[in-house]
Order: sequence, then structure tokens, then C-alpha cells
Amino acid sequence: MKILHISASPRKEASNAWWLSQQIVGHLAGRSGAAAVTVRDLYADPIAHVDSEYADALGSPVYAGDESTAGGALALSEQLIRELEASEAVVIGTPMHNYTVPSTLKAWIDHVVRVRRTFAITPDGKAGLLRDRPVYVGIVSGGRFSGPGARQADFLTPYLKVALATIGLHDLRFYSMEGLAMGADMVRSERERVSMVLETAFSRALSEQAR
Ligand SMILES: Cc1cc2nc3c(=O)[nH]c(=O)nc-3n(C[C@H](O)[C@H](O)[C@H](O)COP(=O)(O)O)c2cc1C
Repeated sequence: MKILHISASPRKEASNAWWLSQQIVGHLAGRSGAAAVTVRDLYADPIAHVDSEYADALGSPVYAGDESTAGGALALSEQLIRELEASEAVVIGTPMHNYTVPSTLKAWIDHVVRVRRTFAITPDGKAGLLRDRPVYVGIVSGGRFSGPGARQADFLTPYLKVALATIGLHDLRFYSMEGLAMGADMVRSERERVSMVLETAFSRALSEQAR
């Protein structure tokens, strides 16, 4: 199985987002027997914001350049889209930053959600052009954003659902560790809880596969 592992925490490998997404990668690799994992660490190797040629190409129906041979952000966009296309599963590890995705993950989205390349505009609206594949999203947060204990808005989950559906990725599975600002005990108990959730989810998937 080819896995694209996207990491979006500034704390890189010390981060809880990395830990959670690594657990998911481990389950996927275990299930498939062998896995080739491409890591795209958005902080270790930051993605520049889109540039003017990219905005011209996307925003203008009369763009005179050639998107396939352009440099700058269009070339990076092509590279990131090909990396995504080559994957059979995507794992995203992300903290919540100000109720939504960190700006680095937003920059990645701006490069891969690209008109005429990963989605088309049709009379019925936008239509995704990528083959669907499972996308596992591990979210970590300082406070709580889901369930009865939620004390804040969540624009991260609905935003990712809409942005990825735009390009044809509908099979999204979300896992979260929340309230981590409460301290080390909360981190420990959230790690234990989510480990059990993942164990159940992946062993159920394995037994369904065997049927
Ligand atoms: C710039 C910034 C914004 C943040 N915004 C939120 C937020 O809106 N809601 C929240 O619950 N936690 C927020 N946090 C806290 C992080 O989500 C939390 O510390 C998380 O556990 C960090 O994950 P990591 O260990 O993967 O880096 C924010 C942290 C930073 C640095």
C-alpha cells in the first residue's frame, strides 16, 4: 500500500498530531502487510503560498501560459498533486489552529485543489477529478471541539470535508485527541482512548476485508 503521510504540526515529531497520525500509518501498514510511506512534513519542508502566475492561471479564463510547463507555484502544485495521485491512502496529522487547519496545511490545499486539474466546473457545480481513496485525519487540539464537552467552534472538520470532496476525496475518517492543554495526564488518557478507538476501527475493517 502506498501511503501519503502529511504532517502539519510545527512541533514536528514531538507533536501529538505526529504521534496520532503515526498510529494510523502503523495500523494501515500492519493491515496491508507492506507499505511505502511518503512523508510530506509541511513544517520541515514548508510550502510557499501560491504566486501571481498560479493565481492568473486559475483565476483567468484567458490565461495565455502553459500550466503544464510553468514554473513557480504551478510546478510545485503539479508535484504535490502527483504525490497525492500516487497514493492509495492519505493520512493527515494536524493540530487545530484558531478553529481550523494550520496555515501550512491551507497552503497545501491551495496547491492541490486546482481548477481544470483536480476539479472541473460543470453546470451542476464543481466536480472532483481525482480517484477517491481513504483519507484518515488525526486532529489534536488544546481545547474540546466535539461532543458534549465542546467549548469552541470547529471549522477544521467541515472545511476539510468540503475542500477534499471538491477534488473527489469523499472517503474521510476523522480521529481526534482533544483538551490536550489540560496537561500530561490528559495527553496520556487521550492517547489511551484513541488507541482503543483505532484498534476497534482497524480490526473491524480487517474482519470485513476477510469476509
Ligand atoms: C497558533 C495556534 C493556534 C491554536 N488554536 C487552537 C484552537 O483554536 N483550538 C484549540 O483547541 N487549540 C488550539 N491550539 C492548541 C493546539 O491545537 C494544541 O496545543 C495541540 O495539542 C498542538 O498539537 P501538536 O502537539 O501536534 O503540536 C492552537 C495552537 C497554536 C500554536
